[in-house]
Amino acid sequence: TGLITLDIGYKNTGSTISNITYLDGDKGELFYRGYPIEQLAEKSNFTEVMYLLLNGELPNKEQFNHFEREIKKQNWVSEEMRRLLEVFPRSAHPMGVLSSLTSALTAFNPKAVNIESHDDVEKASELLIARFAILCAWTYRNMNGYPLIKGNNKLNYVENFYNMMFRMPNEELEVDPVLINALDKILILHADHEQNCSASTVRMVGSARAGLFASISAGVSALWGPLHGGANQAVIEMLEQIVADGGNVQKYVDMAKSKDSSFRLMGFGHRVYRNFDPRGKIIKKVMDEVLDDLDVHDEILETALKLEEIALKDEYFIERKLYPNVDFYSGIIYRAMGIPTEMFTVLFALGRLPGWIAQWTEHRLHEDPIGRPRQVYQGAVKRDFVEMENR
Ligand code: CMC
Repeated sequence: TGLITLDIGYKNTGSTISNITYLDGDKGELFYRGYPIEQLAEKSNFTEVMYLLLNGELPNKEQFNHFEREIKKQNWVSEEMRRLLEVFPRSAHPMGVLSSLTSALTAFNPKAVNIESHDDVEKASELLIARFAILCAWTYRNMNGYPLIKGNNKLNYVENFYNMMFRMPNEELEVDPVLINALDKILILHADHEQNCSASTVRMVGSARAGLFASISAGVSALWGPLHGGANQAVIEMLEQIVADGGNVQKYVDMAKSKDSSFRLMGFGHRVYRNFDPRGKIIKKVMDEVLDDLDVHDEILETALKLEEIALKDEYFIERKLYPNVDFYSGIIYRAMGIPTEMFTVLFALGRLPGWIAQWTEHRLHEDPIGRPRQVYQGAVKRDFVEMENR
């Protein structure tokens, strides 16, 4: 078997060769298909970024319209899927529901299981992109017991999602352009992040030649964890705890520094970005715009800003290069928009979907081998079986 290189947590192991996303953690650079994230966030929109990630190039007008049209054709879900959603208890975590429903899409779209050609991938991707937005919005509706709202093809992808989340039947929804713009930008910032935990999961599952929807469903489960996408929910829960405990931010900063405690400041630190998270800079600006637009005054948000200020000046965080990451700010924005905490990671998943699809597709097209790491065994040495009466 040869010599095994041990790299627990894959901190220094490259798992693939990729053409999708480039990031330099020291310089704080992030490019999708060569385009800097700052330019995409400023000049592009989420639908265009989805096209870019999936196809490698920015679309011309015709390609964009075609892509949008194909997604709109799939802007519905079957009655069976609706019934399936409705049997989940309201108390179910929406990420669990989303993962299950994504997997269930396989059962209702058997053609998408055997993907062979580029055309098959395209069709399955468009279907998934359309259905996923509905499922994300509907997990929220179901959680709250609200009636489900169908998609509206007069709207663009992000407006349609927002509409399905928030519109009440027989009501017009006034769409605040500042909020739509914020949501669009957040989705762009989340769209891909090279070989992170959920993307690697999607690739790993896909490497066994499992289908696209099954692989993405596994990615949703990976993203759910608080050390990954679940951090945006964990940030608000931590802030609520700080407020309930008297609002002493310093106490929690000290606890995060203490070697006697396993407590970490949620929303701080990143495996790859060791200087700053370029997405953090963009999203901080978005946060300021949203807070200004909504004119919210909320103890939780004020505590977040206090925490940011104290931690950024603290020697411990400076030395270890721990900065607020994108999840710190996205949680604050979602809260200000009135989105319940449990839905935060679902929004992250909606943004990450094109990245997962692009990663899965690249793996499949490169015909990379099945992922199968080795280990260093440290368990019991060989011993003989002992009958139960002698144990
Ligand atoms: N609070 C306090 N100390 C921290 C934190 C934190 N949030 N993050 C890292 N450290 C300390 C850690 O204790 C260690 O200290 P020492 O060198 O004295 O032992 C040092 O910083 C290095 O940490 P690490 O655990 O080796 O770093 P990692 O690359 O394994 O972990 C991380 C990265 C993001 C999991 C971690 O920083 C963390 O748990 N952060 C909080 C959760 C979070 O915000 N996650 C979202 C990540 S960004 C988006 C995403 O991936 O979805």
